[in-house]
Amino acid sequence: MSNTKKIALTGIKPTGVPHIGNYLGAIKPALELADNYDARYFIADYHALNSLKDRDLLKSYTYEVAATWLACGLDPDKVLFYRQSDVPQIFELTTMIMAFTSKGLMNRAHAYKAIVADNLEKEKDPDNGVNMGLFTYPVLMAADILMFDADYVPVGKDQIQHIEIAADIAEAFNSNYKVEALKIPTGIASEETQTITGLDGRKMSKSYNNTISLFLPEKQLRKIIMKIVTNSQEIDEPKDPDSCNVFALYKLFATKEQQEALAERYRAGGLGWGHAKQELFELLNTVVAPMREKYFALMDDKSYIDKVLVEGAQKARDIAQAKIEYLRGVIGF
Ligand code: ADP
Ligand code: TRP
Repeated sequence: MSNTKKIALTGIKPTGVPHIGNYLGAIKPALELADNYDARYFIADYHALNSLKDRDLLKSYTYEVAATWLACGLDPDKVLFYRQSDVPQIFELTTMIMAFTSKGLMNRAHAYKAIVADNLEKEKDPDNGVNMGLFTYPVLMAADILMFDADYVPVGKDQIQHIEIAADIAEAFNSNYKVEALKIPTGIASEETQTITGLDGRKMSKSYNNTISLFLPEKQLRKIIMKIVTNSQEIDEPKDPDSCNVFALYKLFATKEQQEALAERYRAGGLGWGHAKQELFELLNTVVAPMREKYFALMDDKSYIDKVLVEGAQKARDIAQAKIEYLRGVIGF
């Protein structure tokens, strides 16, 4: 990890089993960046706590997210990999920047706004079901980012607003003390993987129950792919690949040649939805098989994951402690 490299940072909440939207939208691009950046990737377990209060589930999702990163190729010798809850300095930074965060900024955060809108529609109290963790979520996320001097934050499109909030907070802090104490981060969401669609054509998300888990055993993977929603065209009819949920997913894993070949079969007619889904299943299964094997090995014996997280925690705390001491000085404590 050289200090001259730019810093890339991202986190994933352990609120469910990682799905292919997480993989294509967050994990894969982040691991590609890790070749050229000083990468810092973490498990956002305090973020998960806002919605997940079951101790055993939180633990098992944390292992699943950790095993997923490692199985997808995260090399802990190159990437700083840690659990948010192991770095208490993040929570001190959260308190520091609270004083520089206007409440209006939180009111405008889309996750909170969406809940309020939903409550109003159902004629409930606007803040029904909103805890302060959820309301102030963007501040904790800003602290995650600012703590480690991130230049770039690779995320799915839905998270870009939160990174802009982090940048706003950092600017307010810096301008007050007239020093570049907090680095201004930039969010990056790649065009083609901005929003991966789920089984029903909406954004793939745990909240919509339309996900394809990344490491489903083969049989289950096939079964779930067969559930992707399509229109009711008959086998013989020519079909439009560009408006098809199956093809949208296929494209993300296929080479240009494979994409063109399947698109051609769509347009020619004679390709039934079952065939298209089988093509997607075979391709996806080939791509994930080697990672899936590693994933199950890691989950069978969790001692490697434990070791990686303990080492990552130590390194992350050292970096964070130095930053906190510097910031305390800037503030005048
Ligand atoms: P979910 O919406 O299923 O709860 P998370 O919010 O935990 O997923 O997302 C973790 C990461 O994966 C984030 O960076 C997010 O932007 C990305 N991500 C999640 N779903 C998608 C998707 N459908 N397309 C692209 N990126 C996604
Ligand atoms: N909010 C992100 C999500 O829901 C997870 C996250 C927490 C994160 N802290 C972060 C992502 C810092 C990038 C940087 O997916």
